[in-house]
Amino acid sequence: MTAPVFDQTFREQLDSLFLWRRDVRHFRRDPVPESVLDHMLALTCATPSVGLSQPWRFVRVDDPARRAAVKSEFRERNAEALVAQSESDSAAYARLKLAGLDEAPHHIAVFCDPDPAQGRGLGRLTMPETVQWSAVMAIHGFWLAAQAHNVGLGWVSILDPDHMSDLLGTAPEWRFMAYLCVGYPEEEHDTPELERKGWEKRATERQRWIMR
Ligand SMILES: Cc1cc2nc3c(=O)[nH]c(=O)nc-3n(C[C@H](O)[C@H](O)[C@H](O)COP(=O)(O)O)c2cc1C
Repeated sequence: MTAPVFDQTFREQLDSLFLWRRDVRHFRRDPVPESVLDHMLALTCATPSVGLSQPWRFVRVDDPARRAAVKSEFRERNAEALVAQSESDSAAYARLKLAGLDEAPHHIAVFCDPDPAQGRGLGRLTMPETVQWSAVMAIHGFWLAAQAHNVGLGWVSILDPDHMSDLLGTAPEWRFMAYLCVGYPEEEHDTPELERKGWEKRATERQRWIMR
């Protein structure tokens, strides 16, 4: 196959993809076609990984009883997080919607196999955490692939990793990384919801991220 030459039109579209990718918490209920979900997952497999270990494990959560258990786990952890907020932040925190668990038609839990046979350990002797970093990169790839199909994704991390493994009956050694709500967004925005709700603002000064 000949390598593609990316042109200016593609770059502009890619810019839009990056700028319009959002963490989505308000979903339409109609499902994403399985062929689209499959394509998103296939693209995710092209994510770089330490030693080509591909340690990410995407687990579909379709069973209503399991979904109900995850929702109740989220409610408990979210209530604890609310209590942990400072007095000045707690009212603002209570107003935030931090998951689209009720509406999203698809739920996907992402785990990381911390010691995958694939890759034969290459590259991770001094930094074993690179296995988890690889899984996080896969989630980002999946997020961008979703956006390219106009599909929204909401990352939920207000969950206890050990409870999640028990709830979903996954291999005990797998590390829980993320719970993803997936579906068509109700609205599109070029600004994060946390910014729109006045919780936090994005830094825009580029030099903040550059060491000189
Ligand atoms: C590691 C990670 C964990 C996150 N966990 C949550 C979460 O538990 N609940 C939530 O509402 N958003 C969560 N988010 C989404 C962030 O709040 C969101 O990415 C950030 O506000 C920027 O908004 P944007 O993704 O729309 O640009 C998480 C994002 C990342 C990368």
